[in-house]
Amino acid sequence: MKERVNFGSKIGAILAAAGSAVGLGNIWRFPYETGNHGGAAFIFIYLICIFLIGLPIMIAEFSIGRHSRANTAGAYKVLAPGTPWKYVGYMGVLAGFLILSFYSVVAGWTLEYTLQALSNGFSGMTQSKEFTLFFASFSSSTFRPILWMFCFLIMTHIIIEMGVKKGIEKSAKIMMPALFLLIVILAVCSLTLPGAGNGLEFLFKPDFSKVTPKVFMGAMGQAFFSLSLGLGCLSTYASYFGKEANLSRTAISVGIIDTFVAIIAGIIIFPAAFSVGISPDAGPSLLFITLPNVFQLAFGDIPLLAYLFSLMFYILLALAAFTSTISMHEVVTAFIHEEWKFSRRKAAWMVTVGCIVLGICSSLSFGPWSDFHLFGLNIFDFLDSLTSKIMLPLGGMLISIFTGWYLDRRIVWNEISNESKLKVPLFKAYIFILKYIAPIAISLIFIKELGIL
Ligand code: PHE
Repeated sequence: MKERVNFGSKIGAILAAAGSAVGLGNIWRFPYETGNHGGAAFIFIYLICIFLIGLPIMIAEFSIGRHSRANTAGAYKVLAPGTPWKYVGYMGVLAGFLILSFYSVVAGWTLEYTLQALSNGFSGMTQSKEFTLFFASFSSSTFRPILWMFCFLIMTHIIIEMGVKKGIEKSAKIMMPALFLLIVILAVCSLTLPGAGNGLEFLFKPDFSKVTPKVFMGAMGQAFFSLSLGLGCLSTYASYFGKEANLSRTAISVGIIDTFVAIIAGIIIFPAAFSVGISPDAGPSLLFITLPNVFQLAFGDIPLLAYLFSLMFYILLALAAFTSTISMHEVVTAFIHEEWKFSRRKAAWMVTVGCIVLGICSSLSFGPWSDFHLFGLNIFDFLDSLTSKIMLPLGGMLISIFTGWYLDRRIVWNEISNESKLKVPLFKAYIFILKYIAPIAISLIFIKELGIL
């Protein structure tokens, strides 16, 4: 078999997987989904989804990827030759492609905001109305957002073409610690704003009367999206893991890092939103309206600090998005390269060009095409809901059934215990979750949401 690249170290593997997981899903999507679904009760259900369903499925993906050492569809061909399981892989590749296309639009917005921060474009804005207006006119315009999306995809493309190893692993090692430090500082700033208490209450005091089937569906979708689960992204990365990587420990680290960043993002955004009177259910615009405001309000007296912090934050937001777009791109590129036998370079171009075309449609759905609806949603929201609420949980459910019921138990054991070198006290419980709990819980949520029960 052809030699495959590996990540150089255990910590590199963890940070690369965490780099995929931590992204706009945590800092942008988590707060607005929480806002749309009523706050703390949503978070409570989200946490259950992460730890009870998400982590076991992540370990399953890791096992599938490292054992097969192949792209996500190729993995099923190795582990279950001649069976329809490969369609789980195909669905994942499609989901990766669709997510990359709309995700790049928002990633592009972060570049515009970085540029604004760099040129001090937000200074002097103090009213939340001004930020709302700025965001609305920017995101609904035709060319600028498309240009930024284009830049973002080309940047992603360059890293993918350079090969995964040096780019992803090295950058993750530098960017992730910097990101933690900054978001903690920002959370502290946000907490000092007047009226911050209301935001915290919204975030931490659950009101279970607000829980509807939609809240479950939203929380589960967010858990899968945020952990990059259900599409074979982490299994593709695990195919680059070394023999010594500890799969369950890696999964737990990624889960904790991802949850930590999401909660801190909530602590930054909700106090700020309440403080400046922006409704928490403002949707995708929430982050882009509240955040520039936080900097101006928190450091208004010391303009240099406001300038530096906002600049650093947008750069890091862009970088967090970057490590995630790289991972999505890699899923599709590895698939086209290994399964359809195109050179890696050609495969990468096919993905990039395809995403640019679809990304343009998503971007236009905020402006000129905003009246065009599919199932009552604009193109952007449609792609987002289709992937995160349906394709990822469905993929996750099938991965869990595959690992729990189909895959030889010895393969699973050898992967998780590194050929019995590690102790795995919860192995039985883990298999039980994969066989019963995860598939049943996911199907119940589907059935409820579809209104069958
Ligand atoms: N987990 C990433 C985020 O939170 C998004 C993502 C989804 C990345 C699916 C890869 C695959 O931003």
